[in-house]
Amino acid sequence: MEVGPPLGGIIFLRYNYIMIIKTLREYVVEAREKKVAIGHFNISNLEGLWGVFRAAQGLNLPVIIGVSEGERDFVGVAQAAALVKSIREQFNYPIFLNADHTYSFDRVKEAIDAGFDSVIFDGAQIPFEENVALAKKCVEYARSVGRDVLVEGELGYIGVSSKILDGVPDGVGLDADSLTHADKAKEFVEKTGVDMLAPAVGNIHGMFRGGVDPKLNIERVKEIADSTGIPLVLHGGSGNSGEDFKAAIENGVAIVHINTEIRIAYKEGVVKGLQENPDEVAPYKFLRPAVQSVQEVVEKKLRSFNNL
Ligand code: G3H
Ligand code: ZN
Repeated sequence: MEVGPPLGGIIFLRYNYIMIIKTLREYVVEAREKKVAIGHFNISNLEGLWGVFRAAQGLNLPVIIGVSEGERDFVGVAQAAALVKSIREQFNYPIFLNADHTYSFDRVKEAIDAGFDSVIFDGAQIPFEENVALAKKCVEYARSVGRDVLVEGELGYIGVSSKILDGVPDGVGLDADSLTHADKAKEFVEKTGVDMLAPAVGNIHGMFRGGVDPKLNIERVKEIADSTGIPLVLHGGSGNSGEDFKAAIENGVAIVHINTEIRIAYKEGVVKGLQENPDEVAPYKFLRPAVQSVQEVVEKKLRSFNNL
């Protein structure tokens, strides 16, 4: 017998014992208390999902699966929710699903209705007041559905693509004035009621060719965390150093997003699988190295976010 909502705060009644999985909100609070971060990893398919899950499971850490609008169009919105739910239930495991970078209220609503645990309204490229109004509308909807759905807002532009970069994305500035300002962040959080905030603190979506991104502005992380009083989410984690993660986490970051490095690992795994088995036609055989490469990247990041 099983009781509870499909995703979030599930209570399982099985084999005469009760296993309680905490809500994502509780894991986020716990991460801040312990000065560690929950890893958020994007996937585009089932191989990615297994790679992320196996890495988290091996370290016994909660984990968030992210699907951007493009990724969830490819996987299917309802299918992404069903896949994550199935793993959560089968393994009694704290694996959560986030609607990453969502640019309209309708798509936020669609994800919430499908059972996602959290959503990101990304208004980083629209005027401040419009961003406030739409983020607030998303928060109001999330609060109305009868389960605890976290809403993240975005303030500050860091680019839009998880890809290999030959320079800072167009329109992104890394000087102090271009980053998210602590007073604006405070105003945004007060006006919208978002649960978490994704700021621009020297982070960029995508990763420099060569794998080393510019350094984060840790002072700004601290100022924003202090002024808003809510957990921060560090986007664009590919290419950032373990040292930067540690400092950002100590100063207010509760979730770190990684995508580009996973995409690269997946692609390299596919190439390896095909090269090593040129006559193999069974996808579950030639795709095995892809799952393995994703798992390795995720494990490395989770160790870094949790000081392991
Ligand atoms: O939301 C997704 C992330 O922010 C990923 O950024 O591709 O630079 O790791 P990344
Ligand atoms: Zn992001």
